Amino acid sequence: RIAGPSGLVIFGVTGDLSRKKLMPAVYDLANRGLLPPGFSLVGFARRDWEHEDFAKEVHDAVKAHARTPFREEVWEELSQGMRFVPGVFDDDEAFKRLRETVEELNEARGTSGNFAFYLSVPPKFFPQVVRQLKRHGLSEAPDGSWRRAVIEKPFGHDLASARELNAVVHEVFAPHEVFRIDHYLGKETVQNILALRFANTMFEPIWNRSYVDHVQITMAEDIGIGGRAGYYDGIGSARDVIQNHLLQLLALTAMEEPSGFDADALVEEKLKVLRAVKLPTDLGRHTVRGQYAGGWQGGEKVLGYLEEAGISPQSKTDTYAAVKLEIDNRRWAGVPFYLRTGKRLGRRVTEIAVVFQRAPHSPFDTTDTQELGQNALVIRVQPDEGITVRFGSKVPGTQMEIRDVTMDFAYGESFTESSPEAYERLLLDVLLGDANLFPRHQEVEESWRILDPVEDYWDRHGRPAPYAAGTWGPAEADRMLAQEGRSWRRP
Ligand code: BG6
Repeated sequence: RIAGPSGLVIFGVTGDLSRKKLMPAVYDLANRGLLPPGFSLVGFARRDWEHEDFAKEVHDAVKAHARTPFREEVWEELSQGMRFVPGVFDDDEAFKRLRETVEELNEARGTSGNFAFYLSVPPKFFPQVVRQLKRHGLSEAPDGSWRRAVIEKPFGHDLASARELNAVVHEVFAPHEVFRIDHYLGKETVQNILALRFANTMFEPIWNRSYVDHVQITMAEDIGIGGRAGYYDGIGSARDVIQNHLLQLLALTAMEEPSGFDADALVEEKLKVLRAVKLPTDLGRHTVRGQYAGGWQGGEKVLGYLEEAGISPQSKTDTYAAVKLEIDNRRWAGVPFYLRTGKRLGRRVTEIAVVFQRAPHSPFDTTDTQELGQNALVIRVQPDEGITVRFGSKVPGTQMEIRDVTMDFAYGESFTESSPEAYERLLLDVLLGDANLFPRHQEVEESWRILDPVEDYWDRHGRPAPYAAGTWGPAEADRMLAQEGRSWRRP
């Protein structure tokens, strides 16, 4: 799968995402031979840069963050196609220059009119940028070519704002021309969820309410908010990652088998399951939010959220969130899905744990053995990519003592192929026009439909519970599961 003639325009090219992910991804794709000859990269930002200054920025970003080794010949070829357009979003002259640049590249580099526009900018600028693209004839593909818009999250702040945003984007681009990035879908281990479930026979028969006790989806980070106060404060952890990454993980874990492996079939099934997701009525008992206080992490003293630069000491923003969800359908009725995420937790780990019911009866005399855990299948999304199955096994010896053991699949042991970075995969898919790994606007709206009442409830009730940095979140979260006779895993 090699992209055809094409170019990429990045708005917000001086931002963190562009430097850490997008520029290195472009280089890695080129290095792997997946970009077409003449591929072109255009940066647009408010900077007084020449093309060479931009190329130097990309060079530094690649050196610092690319996955693949630096090769001079690849860089030489790639940098020939780099252009910079200085400007702000309401400046018509800048968009005229952008259009001229695109036309120049079509001539000089053979990009054939095929361009993707990546909006790596705060959502409040989406309307302005897409309208400028339309006004300057950039959104319209010349005959036989394509134009695509790539949009970064957050897709709105709630259901109403997401709908408004979608409406504006769709005034200019047709639905099949819009690629919404949820970078979790670009991760190998996330793509493997469907392979695990639907390319095998041994899991699917027990993947339902008759065998599954509950599901835990955890996305824990050890980092704080770093320099992102401006983005994060007022948004919080639930809007930042539950609305998108975690609900997508839930959809992939819980959906029915799609009729094919194409974008339409996938969206259909994901949407069906998202529509069946419901919140418990008592949100006070079944949701928890927290905010990190100072503490120790990795042997270092770290600040609390309210002491971070740019955060008001009164901020009520959640940096930890846990929510219980249920899925109202025949497969999952009565099986809780517990979702949790947080910054400054014990360690960085994302996993999906499918926890099975206890054996209904045991023929063994287990009175003097330790209590058996429940069987579990754990999809280790990151960082230790793989899958673990946990089950009870006889401890060697003269007694019938049973203890939990694990059976592991680790990517590093089973495959010699390395996983592409999520953004690499997703950028390539944009250039190929493959929409399988991109959520559609209906999914985005459905996810807000699920989260809105939680945010509303939190707005009206108190403050997030403090938790010390480096721990596993507030005690309230443990109570949330304990009241149902369960406990969170400590991965
Ligand atoms: C982003 C969130 O979408 O995902 C960040 O905005 C978070 O807050 C990041 O840190 C985590 O991504 P990853 O790939 O490191 O798990």
